[in-house]
Amino acid sequence: MLTDSKIGIGVIGYGYWGPNLVRNFAREARSEVIVISDTRPERTELARAQCDIATTEDHHEVIGNPDVTAVVIATPVAMHYSIAKEALLAGKHVLIEKPMAATIAEAEELVALAEANNLILLVDHTFVYTNQVRAIKSMIESGEIGDLYYFDSVRIALGLFQSDVNVVWDLAPHDLSILSFLVSDKPVSVSAVGMAHVQPGQEDIAYLTVHYDNTFIAHVHVNWMAPVKMRRTIICGSKKMIVYDHLDNTEPVKVYDKGVLTDGNNRHQTLISYRTGEITAPLIQDKEALSTLAEHFADCILHHDRPLTDGKAGLEVVRLIEAAQRSLGNNGQMEML
Ligand SMILES: NC(=O)c1ccc[n+]([C@@H]2O[C@H](COP(=O)([O-])OP(=O)(O)OC[C@H]3O[C@@H](n4cnc5c(N)ncnc54)[C@H](O)[C@@H]3O)[C@@H](O)[C@H]2O)c1
Repeated sequence: MLTDSKIGIGVIGYGYWGPNLVRNFAREARSEVIVISDTRPERTELARAQCDIATTEDHHEVIGNPDVTAVVIATPVAMHYSIAKEALLAGKHVLIEKPMAATIAEAEELVALAEANNLILLVDHTFVYTNQVRAIKSMIESGEIGDLYYFDSVRIALGLFQSDVNVVWDLAPHDLSILSFLVSDKPVSVSAVGMAHVQPGQEDIAYLTVHYDNTFIAHVHVNWMAPVKMRRTIICGSKKMIVYDHLDNTEPVKVYDKGVLTDGNNRHQTLISYRTGEITAPLIQDKEALSTLAEHFADCILHHDRPLTDGKAGLEVVRLIEAAQRSLGNNGQMEML
């Protein structure tokens, strides 16, 4: 029997991502993985072989298990809403994979259900739990970067092609959740163009532009058809510029003391000069994001804290993606949020 200070975790979905969640919750001292569920017998068999935890092919048994206080959902997106709704109605806290749901309406309902039942709803926006993104957030908040000009990210590789969602639903939640976390201004519209080359109607490359009611602008390039793997974001401010390369193991965040200076005194012609100062790479302790996420989920449940990436943060990302999807269908037309 679990004590009050320990959280019983039930994991639903043991495909590609589920095992990473199980591994990190198994290591988190205040949680215990009670049961793992997957509809595919080969995956439950693998789960038993890898972690000696009870399994079931029926997710209702996970939600109905009295020792399970929190349900972790790592199924394909189409199942997120119905499983999360069932779990919340059964009084369980929920951690749900990105993107939180397949529609804004579904995400809104889950947010309302969690609030009405006083339950924790946390969306796994993994990169928000990296020390790198957190360090960038601190730099922005300290004023070191100055006024933000733009956010420009590239997330490309060869694969992994998904059968149920396009590249926007698969990869853009990462960049859009980083963007929402770093930038406090609220976006007003989105435009997106993309193409499907392999699976008809399923874009494998897309370019999203997020617009604000000021001069800040964000651009996200996601692509399953690139010969090289890149995970790189530029955040440009009036004082400094940051390059975050998630694949750089030694110096993932570099701060460039570079910028443009203008001569404000000349009314007829703007004189531009360039400032090129030092490049620094702050020391950032490496830690697996999912380990921080598992700790945070336990903290939120045990101390009734609001998650950093709560249902509303998940809804915001779904809102951006749904608008991007509408824009893809309208030849890149700007879609209001
Ligand atoms: N945060 C991240 O960095 C990250 C990375 C990869 C995937 N994901 C997300 O994780 C989720 C799963 O992605 P994946 O790549 O692991 O997919 P996957 O297809 O490899 O795994 C999903 C698993 O869910 C199982 N499943 C489906 N319906 C089920 C049900 N009713 N009950 C129990 N199991 C069920 C499937 O059999 C499958 O094994 C998606 O939402 C995806 O966006 C997140």
